[in-house]
Amino acid sequence: MAKRYTAARVGLFTESVIREMTRLNNLYHGVNLAQGFPDFDPPGELLDAAAKALREGYNQYAITWGAPRLRQAVAEKFGWYNGVNVDPDLHVTVTCGATEAMMATLLAIIDPGDEVVIFEPFYENYGPDAALSGATPRYVTLHLDDPEFRFDPADLRDAFSAKTKAIIINTPHNPTGKVFSRAELELVAEQCRQHDVVAVTDEVYEHLLYDGRQHVSIAALPGMAERTVTINSVSKTYSVTGWRVGWTISPASLRAHDFLTVGAAAPLQEAAVTALRMSRQYYVDLAALYQRKRDRMLDILRQAGFRPIVPSGAYYIMSESGEFAQDDVAFTQFLVKEIGVATVPGSSFFHQPRDGRRYIRFAYPKQDPTLDEVARRLARLPRAVEKLKR
Ligand SMILES: Cc1ncc(COP(=O)(O)O)c(C=O)c1O
Repeated sequence: MAKRYTAARVGLFTESVIREMTRLNNLYHGVNLAQGFPDFDPPGELLDAAAKALREGYNQYAITWGAPRLRQAVAEKFGWYNGVNVDPDLHVTVTCGATEAMMATLLAIIDPGDEVVIFEPFYENYGPDAALSGATPRYVTLHLDDPEFRFDPADLRDAFSAKTKAIIINTPHNPTGKVFSRAELELVAEQCRQHDVVAVTDEVYEHLLYDGRQHVSIAALPGMAERTVTINSVSKTYSVTGWRVGWTISPASLRAHDFLTVGAAAPLQEAAVTALRMSRQYYVDLAALYQRKRDRMLDILRQAGFRPIVPSGAYYIMSESGEFAQDDVAFTQFLVKEIGVATVPGSSFFHQPRDGRRYIRFAYPKQDPTLDEVARRLARLPRAVEKLKR
């Protein structure tokens, strides 16, 4: 759109790099390890539930706060998995994915001039979310040279001030795979209580945990339920990123949501009830499946000459490009055009692009034959890079 018609807040960010990589991937017939979505089907009972809901007449607007059965299922699951009891009528708002949930949350709580604390690197949507809501971000570094991606508690304390309205937490974390420990979340909670700040926690990967890691929801810590917005969705846990059904659990309903989207797709809200009522074994099997995929992907990367950082959760691997490249953007373009594998440049996860230049991110929610193909393609990389240098 011509510049004079574009609002200043939109000028604060560019097109999503991840979705741009998907576009390039399609152009070059690559394997898409850029965007985080599975290339396999969700469980069959979810497909049956969705078809049944369409046939049974769930084809008009759902209640804006979400179908009652779904809100009930969300509340029950939050109770048994995260250990917090909530009232489905007061505390649950169904949204179009975690994406809308985050935007609706920030629009509901941010006033001009408010500051939001964000751990960096961060899921790339949080930058535009902050800009659109008018928040000023304050960053706390997660150290990539530490296998636990720890932050310095002094940095956390320094990031809070009288202007702080919220802190965004994402555990398990995209892009690093960090799983925040209870002790780390207690440090965050202490700051929230002291400065009267809202914790906004994005827990879409809460079941993707490896090597015996446990998920801790900050809402379960003392005094936190009344100042926490927990965001989640069916996208990752049930392999249905295209359904666009998410939710928030918050002290009060999110009024902004009504005027953003009215509601998520009514039949898919009904089908999501079946998802949330899957057996507990489903989640155990899911984590085991993804741990195998993580290990396979780590092998592939090491064999191709990368230095991947081992994630404890979620389904991404950050890797140093090592001697391959100094410029992450040029390198990811080379990878998709010459090798046929789409990835995301590390700089997309930092507010100062230079901080991410040494890294690229691989998403691995892929079938085994897809990972085999990635192995074949990446095996060509050292020679392709050699050729380029000559
Ligand atoms: C941390 C995080 N939050 C939210 C989302 C998007 O979730 P949804 O599909 O529910 O909008 C993603 C997708 O990659 C993500 O990585």
